[in-house]
Amino acid sequence: MTAATPHVPAGTHLLVTGGAGFIGSCYVRDVLARRDGTRITVLDKLTYAGNEANLAPLLADAEQAARLVFVRGDIADPAVVGPLVAEVDAVLNFAAESHVDRSILDPEAFLRTGVIGVHVLLEAIRREAARAAAGERARAPRFLQVSTDEVYGSVESGHSLEGDRLEPRSPYSAAKAAGELLVQSYFVTYGLDVVMTRGSNTYGPYQHPEKLIPLFVTNAIDDLALPLYGDGMQRRDWLYVSDHAGAIDFVLRHGEPGAVYNVPGSQELPNRTVVERLLGQLEKPWSLVRRVEDRPGHDRRYAMNGDRLGALGWSNRVGFDEGIAATVDWFLANEAWWRAVKSGDWDAYYGRQYGARLAGSTEAL
Ligand code: NAD
Ligand code: TYD
Repeated sequence: MTAATPHVPAGTHLLVTGGAGFIGSCYVRDVLARRDGTRITVLDKLTYAGNEANLAPLLADAEQAARLVFVRGDIADPAVVGPLVAEVDAVLNFAAESHVDRSILDPEAFLRTGVIGVHVLLEAIRREAARAAAGERARAPRFLQVSTDEVYGSVESGHSLEGDRLEPRSPYSAAKAAGELLVQSYFVTYGLDVVMTRGSNTYGPYQHPEKLIPLFVTNAIDDLALPLYGDGMQRRDWLYVSDHAGAIDFVLRHGEPGAVYNVPGSQELPNRTVVERLLGQLEKPWSLVRRVEDRPGHDRRYAMNGDRLGALGWSNRVGFDEGIAATVDWFLANEAWWRAVKSGDWDAYYGRQYGARLAGSTEAL
């Protein structure tokens, strides 16, 4: 395989699990917009985080809509997964329970999707590998597991390398690490063609308002309190969503079989600075910010070394200034989208996560 010959060429058929979520839907929108003949089947359970409205812009375009099939189902259900995997050239697994705070409240769903679900996908690919070996199809689908920098745990100094120990500290990151280990074992034991990405904290349009940036932007628009955990000096390396989706696609096409690739962001910042920036753009006062009880086991810092992905040929395109401006503008222009997401079960979640915290909050100096 030369650099000029991608492992998965353009114009093939992809299965994108979790394609109605934040990053998965960006991937689907961006890849179909290339108009290169690629067909995508989305498999999504439509949990509270999945939203068919995230794919709605595609439906307005007949050429793109014709290359998209949506299936509602669970990656942990072999009866659903098997026939879909049999039809495709590659599987990209974005599906996961993705919010650390919810993993602290209720860990079980994280394990079901992050471990059993990954196992079901790998077994389906193993069956396709057997069919390929028997001459029933040209080759087995490539499998890309979307993982996270959180598997490294809190990184007090320096930058994580792909070979560093996995030291997850939340049920979310433990489930993601377990999923990775399963994928790695299927590469070693069964020789499946797998690649993995460890993405940094991602932000942008269509992100569920449970996460820091969209929660604070939408609360600030409504002059509601912004619950900052602890001293707000935790650091994250912010990655714009189209860069994350683009890096995943790049690794799908060019990544070495069995390899893991860090996908760092464009700027490492303490949370307080992120909040100052978005308040500045919204012209809202710092007095909205409340210091609340910290998240248990809160990782102080994530930071990764991106040399391996850089050497493969990828670099981010969107800096934090541009990305945060586009994100705040998107939330200002798409109130109907986020008000719908902040309805239904939202109030129950918000009360459980923030009720006591806000009641006991203090001024954030
Ligand atoms: P998200 O919560 O917005 O979307 C997850 C999607 O998966 C939803 O559409 C949901 O309905 C679907 N899903 C959940 N369980 C499922 C199941 N059992 N079967 C089928 N579909 C299921 O998450 P996101 O932020 O888009 O994250 C996508 C992936 O990227 C996840 O694997 C996450 O761990 C990883 N990641 C996220 C970030 C980030 O900052 N958001 C950073 C690095 C890695
Ligand atoms: P989050 O968006 O939940 O991502 P992650 O936990 O995967 O990094 O949180 C980003 C940072 O913001 C993290 O340090 C926790 C902090 N945070 C708050 O201070 N308050 C909040 O209400 C939320 C959701 C996050």
